[in-house]
Amino acid sequence: MAVADDVVQEPPRADGTNDERALRRLEEAYCSFGDTVHYLSSPKFFETCAGSFMFDAEGRRFLDLQMWYSAVNFGYRNPRLANALVRQLDRLPQAASQYLHREKVELAALIAQDIERKFARKGRVHFNVGGSQAVEDSLKLVRNASHGKSLMFAFEGGYHGRTLGASAITSSYRYRRRFGHFGERAQFIEFPYHFRGPKGMSKEEYGLHCVRQFARLFETEYNGVWDPKVAQSEYAAFYVEPIQGTGGYVVPPRNFFIELKKVLDEHGILLVVDEIQMGFYRTGKLWSIEHFGVQPDVLVFGKALTNGLNPLSGLWAREELINPQTFPPGSTHSTFAANPLGTAVGLETLKMLAESDYESSVLRKGAYFLEGLKDLQKRWPQIGDVDGLGLALRCEICEADGFAPNRALLDRMAEEGLKGNIELDGQQYGLILDVGGYHKNVITLAPSLEISESEIDLAIKLLDALFRRCV
Ligand SMILES: Cc1ncc(COP(=O)(O)O)c(C=O)c1O
Repeated sequence: MAVADDVVQEPPRADGTNDERALRRLEEAYCSFGDTVHYLSSPKFFETCAGSFMFDAEGRRFLDLQMWYSAVNFGYRNPRLANALVRQLDRLPQAASQYLHREKVELAALIAQDIERKFARKGRVHFNVGGSQAVEDSLKLVRNASHGKSLMFAFEGGYHGRTLGASAITSSYRYRRRFGHFGERAQFIEFPYHFRGPKGMSKEEYGLHCVRQFARLFETEYNGVWDPKVAQSEYAAFYVEPIQGTGGYVVPPRNFFIELKKVLDEHGILLVVDEIQMGFYRTGKLWSIEHFGVQPDVLVFGKALTNGLNPLSGLWAREELINPQTFPPGSTHSTFAANPLGTAVGLETLKMLAESDYESSVLRKGAYFLEGLKDLQKRWPQIGDVDGLGLALRCEICEADGFAPNRALLDRMAEEGLKGNIELDGQQYGLILDVGGYHKNVITLAPSLEISESEIDLAIKLLDALFRRCV
């Protein structure tokens, strides 16, 4: 999609509420900061967006390399998806979830039929709003299916959301510290983050090492998770992100989940795959778990289903876990679950994905972007690691030794990028970066899947300019 020429600039209002300083004062007085990450001391206001770009009130353009944390995979104001929303707005924008509308049923069927083709498993789709809420629903589903077992495994570096249940299975204690415990926290297992793993092991060897460490827990009852007399684990499920998102776009070795799944199957533990950030072709497949040769028992999705136009999320689960006898009406409910606007856009997204070859284009663009990052790494020793799968790319920022995490440098780069004053070929640009990783020193790059090669070239030039400015 072209950069918007049709961006409408709002004229100053008489009451001054669109004057930035006035708005900032209102924000400081009246907005909770608790519902944001407020990563910067003075967050930036944006006015409009189109394609890969956001624009501020002065009309400065910012190339976005994080696309609303990967919720806007198909470009800001993607016309096809935005039109689906408008059409639904004109026809049936509201309907209570106890009634049916065509879009909900068709969307559920498309997702379930796709999974049935790929994983040879029948199942059903269940909707909610927001990723964390879908994770909550999956916890209920898994607890119910395992007759009330409430303990879960999850990975170090994993992120599943910030509601009470979801933060209990998210690795950071920081998200739980002030709130006490509502549900049991997960047992966190080492993830094969090879760049910071033990020296002298290949990526595959490290993956196997992590699985062996996990399997060790089941060797005897004295390791705390397994009763060999009745062959039962105390744990219901293992929650995984196939590629860690907030953890820094860490790609595990290809054999990892096959080996892990063997241990889970031997011990009756369900595999719950969180595709909220990596789903919808971010990695070049509809579901990122497709790269790894295993079948999920439950799959949770959100974000890019509606390209960020509606907070629709949901889950797919195997028929045995979710059939109406096992998981009856009212097991979870939210007024806006399966809302007509969201399901209409989600349906259009799935149709669009079926009609075009996103797999080839994302893998091609991802390889091109990664090549650019590798070139950049040759020029900047501060780039310790670059890696990626499709258009989920990582660039780990370090000291000049290429290893010690350098969070301060990345913070400076992110802040400078938002000034919007990088001069290139006679134009001014800004750059929007997301910061992630175990040490908050990783640029987690999630550009629009519609990004052009020239925009990727621009991204590399802008990153280079930020290094020149900040190192
Ligand atoms: C892997 C993963 N799971 C769950 C969530 C939570 O989703 P939401 O922020 O929509 O509640 C996120 C959000 O970033 C995520 O990346």
